[in-house]
Amino acid sequence: MFVVTFYDREMTTTANDWAPDSWRALPADQGVLWPDSEALYAVERELAKQPPLVFAGEARRLTEHLADVSQGRAFLLQAGDCAESFHDGSADAIRDKLKVILQMAVALTYASGVPVVKVGRIAGQFAKPRTQSFETQDGVTLEAFRGHIVNDEAFTPESRRPDPTRMLQAYHQSVSTLNLLRAFTKGGFADLSRVHAWNQQFVLETIEGKRFSAIADDIERAMRFMRACGIDLGRESSLHEVDFYTSHEALILPYEQAFVRQDSLSGDWFDTSAHLLWIGDRTRQLDGAHVEFLRGVANPLGLKVGPTSTPRELVALAERLNPDNVPGRLTLISRMGRDKILDVLPELITNVKESGLNVVWACDPMHGNTFSAASGKKTRRFEDVLREVEQFFSIHHQLGTWAGGLHIELTGDDVTECLGGGQGLDEDDLEINYTSMCDPRLNASQSLDLAFRVAEFLQN
Ligand code: PEP
Ligand code: CO
Repeated sequence: MFVVTFYDREMTTTANDWAPDSWRALPADQGVLWPDSEALYAVERELAKQPPLVFAGEARRLTEHLADVSQGRAFLLQAGDCAESFHDGSADAIRDKLKVILQMAVALTYASGVPVVKVGRIAGQFAKPRTQSFETQDGVTLEAFRGHIVNDEAFTPESRRPDPTRMLQAYHQSVSTLNLLRAFTKGGFADLSRVHAWNQQFVLETIEGKRFSAIADDIERAMRFMRACGIDLGRESSLHEVDFYTSHEALILPYEQAFVRQDSLSGDWFDTSAHLLWIGDRTRQLDGAHVEFLRGVANPLGLKVGPTSTPRELVALAERLNPDNVPGRLTLISRMGRDKILDVLPELITNVKESGLNVVWACDPMHGNTFSAASGKKTRRFEDVLREVEQFFSIHHQLGTWAGGLHIELTGDDVTECLGGGQGLDEDDLEINYTSMCDPRLNASQSLDLAFRVAEFLQN
């Protein structure tokens, strides 16, 4: 046991050579070239003095819920923006995103009878990994846009210059977003008696909206019945409140390190910037900085598993990230693409299973199915998304493992970013309302549609 000091705070370490900054000795893919290291350090010190966003006890509770998922007793729904924006942290946007996630969860639970663990890609999802570090337009080459926590999307040298003070803004926007989420989920908005109110006007007239209204009617009827039987529903907090957790990709390690706090009860370290942190498909190197950082914090973790993953590497990563094989600690998020999933995923699942590793298997059917439309806009076909999810369920069914979760990019707005779905959006429609700064998201009715289909797979 020894004492280490980080940003003027003392912490006692006990663990196997891990410290909140041990990642700094290792190569970090997707590392940002901050132009002014003193300014960066000043921001890190400032962040380290801020109150935590989440508490250790909450993260521990999420691990317990995810343990239920890993044992086939619950389902994980992880959903939200590709990249949150500094230009839109409005209460309405947050409320509408939450509405869709709650609707999806109700549709899934109602149809399948399986409890749903709800995790947002929200209140901190500001950083983006990029395949290309630079972008060229009309002969001018600038740094790629890396999310509002690093730089701005406008194509000018000033906007693209990484600015560490953006981390402070990301923190403050995360605080206000989380504050509102806590109010919405614990203060009446998520009450099951308001289930009709989650249907948004523009969704009401769609098939999915009508289907949701029918479920909402059923739920109201069931609640009236229980009340008539003399059951005091007021005392059932699970009918009035929702446990909602936050997550983001732990990409910008100086930011994440600044939020490491030691839990006074257990002595464990937690990254208090979100309940769950995940490692992206581009930063999952076994001996890289991101894996090193996350192995030492006690939060539940996600790991994106793309088509270049090998069974050996995946088992080694799972053992490094979860050496005690704690159920609920590690969620493997498969993101293969509809044409690759069948070739790659079965062998990975088989190896993880034969190694006796406790994991949650979730499906991200978005990131392997992105392509550029003729206009140059990035998009995804609803049909490809659905096909990948369907294969994910069928593979698990055949292998006798639990298809435990869905990880998607969505928004509560009526955007036209993904093709197909009930509204039958085509490439021309992409021009109508495309507001994503990064990847195309499912809109509210496409998201609901997906939830109904997944509920059917779950039932089977
Ligand atoms: C993401 O989830 O937004 C993302 C970039 O995913 P991946 O790391 O799987 O490409
Ligand atoms: Co994305």
